[in-house]
Amino acid sequence: MYVCVCKGITETKIREAVYQGADRMRDLKARLGVTEQCGICACHTKQVLDQTLVQKSQIQNFLPQPPCMCETTA
Ligand code: FES
Repeated sequence: MYVCVCKGITETKIREAVYQGADRMRDLKARLGVTEQCGICACHTKQVLDQTLVQKSQIQNFLPQPPCMCETTA
């Protein structure tokens, strides 16, 4: 679904950008150009950003953590 009609940006494009490290509105604006023209897309863009950040953090919590190497048994 299109979020930003002026720039042709979809929810998928926003989610991809968030997973690649864009975690603020200004990052999405710089990478994708959302909100640069009429600005009507700002609220929906923020919703997609916030939802994706939550999903991203939930996924990262399920990933296996590397073993702690700070304690060595010699
Ligand atoms: S809809 Fe995004 S700038 Fe117009």
